[in-house]
This record gives sequence, structure tokens and C-alpha cells, in this order.
Amino acid sequence: MERRPITTSEFKTDIFDTFLKDWMLLTAGDFQSGRFNQMTIAWGFMGGMWFKPAVMVVVRPQRHTLQFMDKYDDFTICAFPESKKEVLSFCGSHSGKELNKTQECGLTPIPGEKSNAPGYEEATLIIECRKLYRDQYKAKNFLEKSILDSCYPERDLHYMFVGEIMHISGIDKYRRKSFS
Ligand SMILES: Cc1cc2nc3c(=O)[nH]c(=O)nc-3n(C[C@H](O)[C@H](O)[C@H](O)COP(=O)(O)O)c2cc1C
Repeated sequence: MERRPITTSEFKTDIFDTFLKDWMLLTAGDFQSGRFNQMTIAWGFMGGMWFKPAVMVVVRPQRHTLQFMDKYDDFTICAFPESKKEVLSFCGSHSGKELNKTQECGLTPIPGEKSNAPGYEEATLIIECRKLYRDQYKAKNFLEKSILDSCYPERDLHYMFVGEIMHISGIDKYRRKSFS
């Protein structure tokens, strides 16, 4: 995939579609040792926090990926072409507890520019992040109580991670100006 570095000023995307409709792959761990795990995400934010470009992702306690998010300092979120939607479905419905998803899903992990967590050769967009903040949603803090019952009947409240965006690489559609 023809990706190039993109600065945060040049970066553009339909952020609601990128998360909610197209989905992304969250990967945490270490490329060099091969200890990493990936899962599909559709919930998250991207913007600014503490004067830094940042993303927020949420991971339920039972996800295998959580232990990698906790252990390692950085993570990546990647977008893929529509042709890889089945791969995202697979990574969103199978756990690394049971199988090696990297082998099963046929993606090619590649080293990050700034992060130890990998991106993927097949990705159209790779956003490398360094963890800044971790917390777990708390039932008592929900102002809209119906969300608790609809999204957390088991009360498996997500852990949220805010990560500083350290590096972005993507295909032309994620850049404000076309490549010259
Ligand atoms: C479209 C889609 C979006 C998802 N979004 C999230 C999410 O934002 N947070 C989360 O914890 N799980 C999410 N999941 C569920 C995980 O991807 C799924 O449970 C996965 O198998 C976890 O893998 P793991 O156990 O290897 O970490 C999503 C699943 C799908 C199909």
C-alpha cells in the first residue's frame, strides 16, 4: 500500500465514518518480539488533549488486547480498504486468547516509525500513539443511565486510553493536498 507520512495539519478524514462505519484495527504490543495483539474498534475519539494531537480508544476488560495495552507504552490504530472488511470482522469476533489472529487474518505486520507496536502493510492509514492516560468508566459517573443498561448489562465497563499521536502515514485520500 502506497502510504506516506502525513502531518496532523495535513491530515483529513471523515472521522465518524472512519470509526463507526469503516472501523479500525487497534494493535498493542511489540513488533520486534512478536508479542502483540489486535482487535477491531468502532468507538473512539480523535482531536486534541493537553495541547497534543490525541486519540481515545476504549477496551473492555475481557479483551485479550487489554493486557497488551496495559503492558506496553504505545499502540496503533489502522484503517483498511473495503476489501479487508472481512478481516476486521474476524478480528472483532475472535480473541487472541484462543488463536494467533495475526497468522489467521493474513495481514502483514510492519514496524512503526515511532511506536514499537506494529502497523500493517495492507493498511491505508496507520496512526501511531503513545499512551498518556488510562482509566475505567465508572457506573456512578454516567449522566445518561440508560447507556449503562444498554451498553453494559454485564457492567464490563470499558477502559479508556488517551494516546498522543506520534506519527501518521496514509494514502492520498487522508491528505488535504494531493501528493505532488
Ligand atoms: C465493528 C466492531 C467494533 C468493535 N469495537 C470495539 C471497541 O471499540 N472496544 C472493544 O472493547 N471491543 C470492540 N469490539 C469487540 C472486539 O473487537 C472483539 O471482542 C475482539 O474479538 C477482541 O479481541 P481480543 O480478545 O483478541 O482482544 C468491536 C467488534 C466489532 C466487530
